[in-house]
Amino acid sequence: MDINELKNRAKDEIERILDFDEIEKSFKKYLGKGGEIAQIFDSLKDFSVEEKKVIGKEANILKKEIESFFEQRKEEIKSATKTVKQKGEKIDITRPAKKIQTGHLHPLTLAMDEACSIFETMGFEIAQGPELETEWYNFDALNVPKDHPARDMQDTFWLKDNQKVSTNNKKQITNNKSHRLLMRTQTSPVQIRYMESHQPPLRIIAPGRVFRNEATDANHGAQFYQLEGLMIDREVSASNFKAIVEDFLKRFFKAEVETRLRPGFFPFTEPSFEIDVKRPDGKWMEIMGAGMVHPNVFKAAGLNLSVKSGLGWQGFAFGVGIDRLAILKYKITDIRLLYQNDMRFLEQF
Ligand code: PHE
Repeated sequence: MDINELKNRAKDEIERILDFDEIEKSFKKYLGKGGEIAQIFDSLKDFSVEEKKVIGKEANILKKEIESFFEQRKEEIKSATKTVKQKGEKIDITRPAKKIQTGHLHPLTLAMDEACSIFETMGFEIAQGPELETEWYNFDALNVPKDHPARDMQDTFWLKDNQKVSTNNKKQITNNKSHRLLMRTQTSPVQIRYMESHQPPLRIIAPGRVFRNEATDANHGAQFYQLEGLMIDREVSASNFKAIVEDFLKRFFKAEVETRLRPGFFPFTEPSFEIDVKRPDGKWMEIMGAGMVHPNVFKAAGLNLSVKSGLGWQGFAFGVGIDRLAILKYKITDIRLLYQNDMRFLEQF
């Protein structure tokens, strides 16, 4: 009986075992009733008392060792199956695939992009101006005098008087133009900024965010988006404006929409119009202000149209509310939904 040989053989075999079924079989073979260790004990009866002592002792040690081999292997198998489970390495091909979450553009961005690209096809270029404006660009240059009621209609957020004026605005201080800072109430100041550095003929649109100190409701917000338009050319008339706007609305809503042009008032246009669209519930909703550019506006921007080869230079301007276009297009009942970032709402677009 070679105890060492038996020990090495058992160790070798046990280390190679891969599952609990095999462990059980192998355990019976070595440590079970009539197993190899039991046979050693059985054989003791053939030995002398002295030999029995020695062999019996060795056999007991061997038995314990083999038991510990099994314990160790059982632990190894257990933790190996655990890691496989944790890593999720078992592949269940019947399981539905994990859906990849892709983001998409906000309905306001969709409406703005759509509106811009329609005007671009008509030859309008995109211009931009700052959201933080000066009183000059937002009101004075647009022919809105200091105490004109139009200022009350467009109350906004003013910055404190001691607010630093950027180098950009220094020119206006020396020119004695009001540099008081405010959040722009409209995109119309972009008209002035653009005319300061460009000569007609010109066609621009100016998309952007505007601010009003106003209570919010289903149709109003303290901030919203506008798309300003300005076209100056020879012989540009109100009927050109009407044609362009009707074409725009038809393409934007991809359907016949009923529109209404009615007289309005803006200090920077003369005559002025308001454009309404008929809602599904039959009520009219105002979506746009517009008109023929007032001569004082050209003057404030430093544009002298009379020196530009005589008569016939005129322009129209308009400002359309993108939020209102969006709620009409997507049949949304409340403008505030556009600003709440509720995923249940946004995921529908
Ligand atoms: N700026 C005006 C508004 O915010 C709209 C407008 C733009 C009107 C251009 C006339 C010309 O209400």
